[in-house]
Amino acid sequence: MHDFQYKNDTLFCEDVAVPAVAEAVDTPFYLYSTATLTRHFAAFDQAFADIPHLTCFAAKSCANIAILRLFASLGGGADIVSGGELFRARTAGIDPQKIVYSGVGKTAAEIRAALTAGILMLNIESEQELTVIQEVAAGMGLKAPVSFRVNPDVDPKTHAYISTGLAKNKFGIPIGEALRVYLAASRLPNITIKGVSCHIGSQLTLVSPFVESLAKVKRFIAQLGEQGITITHLDLGGGLGIRYNGEEPPEPAEYARAIKQELAGLACTLILEPGRVLVGNAGVLVTKVLYTKKGLKKFIIVDAGMNDLARPSLYDAFHQIQAVERSGREQAVADVVGPICETGDFLARDREMPAVGAGELLAVMSAGAYGFSMSSNYNSRPRVAEVLVHGSDFHVIRARETYETLIQGESIPEFLKQQDA
Ligand code: LLP
Repeated sequence: MHDFQYKNDTLFCEDVAVPAVAEAVDTPFYLYSTATLTRHFAAFDQAFADIPHLTCFAAKSCANIAILRLFASLGGGADIVSGGELFRARTAGIDPQKIVYSGVGKTAAEIRAALTAGILMLNIESEQELTVIQEVAAGMGLKAPVSFRVNPDVDPKTHAYISTGLAKNKFGIPIGEALRVYLAASRLPNITIKGVSCHIGSQLTLVSPFVESLAKVKRFIAQLGEQGITITHLDLGGGLGIRYNGEEPPEPAEYARAIKQELAGLACTLILEPGRVLVGNAGVLVTKVLYTKKGLKKFIIVDAGMNDLARPSLYDAFHQIQAVERSGREQAVADVVGPICETGDFLARDREMPAVGAGELLAVMSAGAYGFSMSSNYNSRPRVAEVLVHGSDFHVIRARETYETLIQGESIPEFLKQQDA
């Protein structure tokens, strides 16, 4: 359930009419619902309320500091993957002891920043990374809290680009080699082993791959125990899918039940890194129709493109598209395309949808996760505004970029200026 519903045929977000926001901030813009975000966080977090756990929101899915602050206020932490996300999480006021840091390519500077902030743990993804963390921690005269991300070789049965837990993927340390790496780490003076982590992929619509990887990790934790290495934190990553178009992903409660059952007997704090399931259906992208035209196909040309929402182009992902004013429209089959100079620039193809005309507003649904956070300036398009609705109020939580911000940091070197003279 989400809070984007029609009232008298006009799309509302909570108690705010979507056209009123368009009037105030212009289009395109991302629009998020505080009520939906709050409800999704609570449903997920409370599903684990009976065991020691920490819900670390995957910042990469929607990194705006207002969203991070909202989850922090509900008791959440953050799963980060870069120095930039660390900066965002800290700026948003997230307790560093609720921050976990994953990623295959952390730089020494990023590791130093994370240790300075005092985060809960670094999820190490290679032996060379372990060496660098040891060196950085030694230089700072402290012990780095770590876990290793193990790769359990489990098929998450999702899109190939977002599968991470197969042996052929770049992520983690093969589970069969991990014992040797843990033993090596246990002998390093500036490393404190805290956990084991694992994230097998995103947009999973089945519980079974989660359970299968947890079973492998559980056996591995027992092996570590036999070697005298105690694990206090088990990080199961994120990955729970959402409904974009008829998928039937497990509800958080069902996912939690399966995990808790498999976890039974393990004395660890469970860390979860949900992204999409918290924010995906809590945000939409609102765009305006600029033109329509009909050749071999009918095209609806809108003011948002693949730079604003990359998922359709990148993963052939399906997002429902709704007319913001829905009354009295015939249906048509059309491609909804953006202004970018690429054939791959589409939001929907061969879509049966209302036959909207120039000037009308469309809402691209389920765009809260990996929407704004993956947007770019391609074709020199300023990134769009982000707006957060709260009851009958709305707040611009990120201003639309300007042409000045587009060229910020660029300069023309003297030798080129001299050529003019
Ligand atoms: N933890 C780690 C270590 C991750 O790599 C990810 C996502 C998550 C947690 C959160 O996963 P979620 O709960 O959101 O599924 N851009 C793609 C998704 C990429 C996911 C990358 N990692 C998309 O738009 O579908």
